[in-house]
This record gives sequence, structure tokens and C-alpha cells, in this order.
Amino acid sequence: YFHSKFVYVASAKSKESFIPEKLPEVAFIGRSNVGKSSIINAITQRGQAKTSDKPGFTQSINWYELGSTLYIVDLPGYGFAFAKSQKVDQWNQLTLEYLTTRKSLKRVFLLLDARHGLKESDHEILEILDKEHVKTQIVLTKGDLVEQKEIAKRFTLVTEELKKYHHTQLPVISVSSKTFGGIPELASLIKGFKLR
Ligand code: GTP
Ligand code: MG
Repeated sequence: YFHSKFVYVASAKSKESFIPEKLPEVAFIGRSNVGKSSIINAITQRGQAKTSDKPGFTQSINWYELGSTLYIVDLPGYGFAFAKSQKVDQWNQLTLEYLTTRKSLKRVFLLLDARHGLKESDHEILEILDKEHVKTQIVLTKGDLVEQKEIAKRFTLVTEELKKYHHTQLPVISVSSKTFGGIPELASLIKGFKLR
């Protein structure tokens, strides 16, 4: 879906190691295991982002560069870390710091498992992002694991639940990183944020 080169650039576990804001960027967030790293691999058709069936796998902020025009950012999941409140929160702190201060961040894609929809931790994050005016778009993931009819229901429900947020009023997208359903559409949406 992208013809440009896609390469890993850097990771950060603290604010000091955030890379300079050289290019526009889009970021993927969501609960642990929702499929953030997989979706990056699907849209770029490269196996660069590390995935795992163990929740809490990605533990740093990871920048990938798409042909000198855009950064795609893989972030640690939340929910899993929230449960073990002590360490939380180094990761969550870091992630929130990133999400709310990064000026070159053009869009945040918040992923939801199509089987589960919005959970409390998603609402917690959405409230913070909304307050900070971070433009956020919802993506339903793992569409291959759900009947088409169920996805339609989930779509309607989530769209309704999002009405209380002002900065998430963008169409809900549905994808599968396994069958690639919805992936070309997401990729072309992301192309719109590229530096021209
Ligand atoms: P953390 O880094 O732990 O926060 O997880 P993540 O959100 O990056 O999830 P990851 O992409 O590592 O995927 C988690 C698991 O879900 C892996 O076993 C993937 O193979 C699986 N998975 C991801 N996307 C899909 C999908 O579209 N369909 C199906 N069936 N499985 C998926
Ligand atoms: Mg990951």
C-alpha cells in the first residue's frame, strides 16, 4: 500500500530520547494485545513491528519512517499495565506525555478489539486525549474473528458511545490484519498525512 521504504528509526523509554519532530507522524494506541504492532505490519506489508500473543509486549515508543515523508509510531499498550498499578505507570506516563505534547502528531488511531469494544481503560484514555484536543480515530481490529453482523452492531454501538467526546468525531474504521480487510483504506487515509 506504500511504495516508499519503511525503516525502523528509534525507540524511547523516556522523554529525553524522543526523536526530533522532523516529519508528520501518526500513532497507534490501544489496550495490550489489541493488535497495534500487527496493524503497522499489515499497512506497511513489512514484518518490522514486533508482535506477540503475550499482552504487554511493546514496552517503548517506536518510530518507523516511511520514505522520508512520515513517521509511524508503535506504542506500548495500556490495560495490562494498568492492572499492575505500580509499574504502570512509567509506560502510561511516557505514552501520555508523548500523546499530549507531540506537536507533529497528526492523528492517533485508537484500536479496539471488535469483539470487545470500548472498555473502561479506553474511556480513561479518551477522556484525557479529548481534554488535550488530540484528534483520535477509532479502529476496530481483528474483524476476521467476528461475524459481519456483529461488526455492524459494534460499529453502531461504539459510534454512539463516542458522541460524548469532541475530538473523536471521525468515522470508525474496521480492519483485520490477518485477512487485510480494511487495510488498504487505512493505508490510503494515512498517506494523506504524508509530507508532500
Ligand atoms: P502489545 O504490544 O502487547 O500492546 O500488543 P499489540 O497491540 O501490539 O498486539 P500485537 O500486534 O502484538 O497482536 C497481539 C496478538 O493478536 C498476536 O497474537 C496477533 O497475531 C493477534 N492479532 C493481531 N491482529 C489480528 C487480527 O487482525 N486477526 C487475528 N485473528 N489476530 C490478530
Ligand atoms: Mg505491540
